[in-house]
Amino acid sequence: MDIAYESRKTLDTILSETDFSEIPARRRKAFLNRLEQHFPALFEHLLTLYGNHYDAWLHMRRLVETLAQHQVKKHHAGLPGGNQPWYLGEDQVGMAVYVDLFGGDLNGLIERIPYLESLGITYLHLMPLYEAPKENSDGGYAVSDYRKVDPKLGTNKQLKALADALHKRGIRMVLDFVFNHTSDEHAWAKAALAGDRRYQDFYYLLDEPEARAYDATLREIFPTVRRGSFTYNETVGKWVWTTFNSFQWDLNYSNPDVFVSVVDEMLHLVAMGADVLRLDALAFVWKELGTVCESLPKAHTLIQTFNLCLRIAAPHVHFKSEAIVHPDQVNEYIGLDECELSYNPLMMALMWESLATRRTGLLNASLERSFTIPEGTTWVNYIRCHDDIGWTWDDAISGRLGINGQDHRYFLNQFYTGRFSGSFANGVPFQENPSNGDCRVCGTLASLAGVEQAGASGDPQLLEHALRRVKLLNGIELSMPGLPLLYQGDELGALNDHSYLKDPGKAEDSRWVHRKALTEADFTAAATKGTPQNRIATDMAAMIQLRKSHEIFAAQAFELLRSDNPHVFAFLRRNGPETLLVIANFSEHSTQPGLDPAAIPGIDAARDLLSSDTTGKGALQELEPYALHWFHLQSA
Ligand code: GLC
Ligand code: GLC
Repeated sequence: MDIAYESRKTLDTILSETDFSEIPARRRKAFLNRLEQHFPALFEHLLTLYGNHYDAWLHMRRLVETLAQHQVKKHHAGLPGGNQPWYLGEDQVGMAVYVDLFGGDLNGLIERIPYLESLGITYLHLMPLYEAPKENSDGGYAVSDYRKVDPKLGTNKQLKALADALHKRGIRMVLDFVFNHTSDEHAWAKAALAGDRRYQDFYYLLDEPEARAYDATLREIFPTVRRGSFTYNETVGKWVWTTFNSFQWDLNYSNPDVFVSVVDEMLHLVAMGADVLRLDALAFVWKELGTVCESLPKAHTLIQTFNLCLRIAAPHVHFKSEAIVHPDQVNEYIGLDECELSYNPLMMALMWESLATRRTGLLNASLERSFTIPEGTTWVNYIRCHDDIGWTWDDAISGRLGINGQDHRYFLNQFYTGRFSGSFANGVPFQENPSNGDCRVCGTLASLAGVEQAGASGDPQLLEHALRRVKLLNGIELSMPGLPLLYQGDELGALNDHSYLKDPGKAEDSRWVHRKALTEADFTAAATKGTPQNRIATDMAAMIQLRKSHEIFAAQAFELLRSDNPHVFAFLRRNGPETLLVIANFSEHSTQPGLDPAAIPGIDAARDLLSSDTTGKGALQELEPYALHWFHLQSA
């Protein structure tokens, strides 16, 4: 088949049959230009996904109508950017917040904008705020209506007002695009339950043998909720595909009707003012019998097709990938044609691994393989988020270092849940798998880094170490290439909160231990001199300001430095005459940096941005316990 010819013919037919007259003239012209530009790729992608459907072409026409419909009203078209994509800038600092836990409701959140602004936040991820089942909604990730703000948080109008208020202050808004599943209370699911064939095909409603056949090759994601990935539904007498909770029904993207319908929902999120969409659980969206149904080639085709829809309908919006999977697979989602931004779960997990072991070998070896991503894309670096910590790294790499992956994960779980004697951490296990003992870890940054335990012990030295650990992790997050993403409350030194155990809708899900409703007391503690919280908050604020005032933090050139000392993590960033050298000591003992000064010309004269009284010369002789240095070198 001559694809170019077929694509041209198809577009011409669609154009001749579609009425674009409702779109105001200027926007119409720009839209049609973008459609011309991207339709060939869109056509090819749709053929790959849906070419075997006899009615594929009708769906293509409906898709173009959907994209056009979005142009009728005027929407936010993005904040002004510079020469390079805004998300690569040194001025960018992100934070993820729950509307209710951070501000009470949408109006309360608007009142917190001055705080965000004073901290330097420019990228605000609002955890899912859509209508969702009442008691348990997986923290909002079971969406019942993408077009409606959860009434307990506010109204659509207030969300738009929030978006406007953020944009006025140069803060971009990030919304969740939860497209792998809907809640079982979504109108599509309800129609399916009522027997509507069209909507039954929106999901996977299977007979037992078929469900079993799929299940045989799947990973269990929430094994304490239910074994396997299917839930029996009595009303329809079928097994429903539910990768996560039983009330989260996986959408069937092998059906083009689903794709087009979800594009429509996606554009609604854009209309609310989103600048970035976070692609939730994107690894699971394409399923094929006999496979793991994770990160299949067509999952990528599908995401690229969504991205092409954005390029045509809302070109200022970008995708962020939430792939918490094997590092090689994480990287496969990153590209200008797929997800321009991606969480960096490898670095996150290995920061914690290095803190526990006091060794940076696995961190270094893993980053050497996986840190480089295509030009123009970015990592979103984070230390904690609303989810658990999963120990994803490449076992072939740990194996080469003599580390058995399974044993080491067991150790890390023991360590961070405080079951390992001598551990500083107060974490809580999550989803302990009864068959293989696997688990993941929950807890706030401060509690996992030892602030909670040291505080309780009253030992000033332990507390000092814990506070340095917090600074170490935050300081690496803020200085590595990528967009740093803080998690609400961690910047205030918030500790674990066990009150979720009293709420029946939450008690079974230990991730709530680090989803604390922040109160005035938390902000006050952080503002009160002498408290550990104050130290964490002021360290954080100072590092953010430094990052924002030095262009070197936008440098793309990056080089890991291998120290002879197993406790040390070090890297260089360069931009013309400027160099940044970051050195971190992951142990509570003073140690040698183990770096060859000759490899870093000019280091003797370099100034430490984090402490005005250290120069490179001293630091290259000895590193203090948990030392962190940001050396700035400017060659003549
Ligand atoms: C993502 C979310 C997580 C949620 C899951 C299912 O991984 O981050 O909180 O449980 O998707 O939607
Ligand atoms: C699994 C999924 C990830 C999700 C997490 C939620 O690890 O791979 O997408 O964030 O579960 O706990």
